[in-house]
Amino acid sequence: MASYVLMKILESAPQRYERGINILSLGQSSKIQREIVKSYITAGDKILEIGCGSGTLAISCAEKGATVVGFDVSPEMLAQARRKIRERDLSGKIRLRQMSAIEMDNAFSDKGFDKVVSTLVFSEFYADEQKYVLREAYRILKPGGLIIIADEVRPNILWKRLLHLLIRIPLVVITYILTQKSTRALKGFSRLLVEAGFELIDQKRSLLDSFGLYVAQKPSQNGN
Ligand SMILES: C[S@@+](CC[C@H](N)C(=O)[O-])C[C@H]1O[C@@H](n2cnc3c(N)ncnc32)[C@H](O)[C@@H]1O
Repeated sequence: MASYVLMKILESAPQRYERGINILSLGQSSKIQREIVKSYITAGDKILEIGCGSGTLAISCAEKGATVVGFDVSPEMLAQARRKIRERDLSGKIRLRQMSAIEMDNAFSDKGFDKVVSTLVFSEFYADEQKYVLREAYRILKPGGLIIIADEVRPNILWKRLLHLLIRIPLVVITYILTQKSTRALKGFSRLLVEAGFELIDQKRSLLDSFGLYVAQKPSQNGN
């Protein structure tokens, strides 16, 4: 969904972020988070959320019985997440850290998590950051662990890609003028997952193929 590029503007107003991102994504953002929790999270899971933002997904995972470590680079987003976690009395299940994804190698030990989740964050990384974060996710996952990522993706079919670009370019310009930042729709992401060592187990596209969900697994030690 090309309008995701406007999320950089919403990030500067965390209290309005959730409502805004749902409007921009035509409800897809919360729909995909509900699907992630329903299909892939189980009670007792130890989860790392990359770029947890205002904490919605972390809270849903914790409400299902998982424990979550969430990190985000933005203190404002984390303040909003902390407020929501306190209101729901989930402080014992969710630990938040302010840090950048590019510091993951110093922050987490090997094989400590069952699942890594991240929504609408990888499109904010440059290509080399995406590779680094996927390598780190692989390192910190237990064998057999899952990585589950949802984000804006570049459509494969030409006419859909052109339509996507047509909508995206003016939005990129507006966003850049207002925030001096932009996002990049993911491309070749299944290949990046495989290059990092994962086995792709599910992949779905929606919104004219411009929004993707990727589920991949770190092979278990015996190769199964
Ligand atoms: C569009 S928001 C998505 C938030 C949340 N995951 C969601 O789906 O609602 C992107 C988030 O990624 C965070 N972020 C961007 N770059 C980051 C980085 N290098 N390390 C950690 N967080 C980052 C931003 O601060 C922001 O909270």
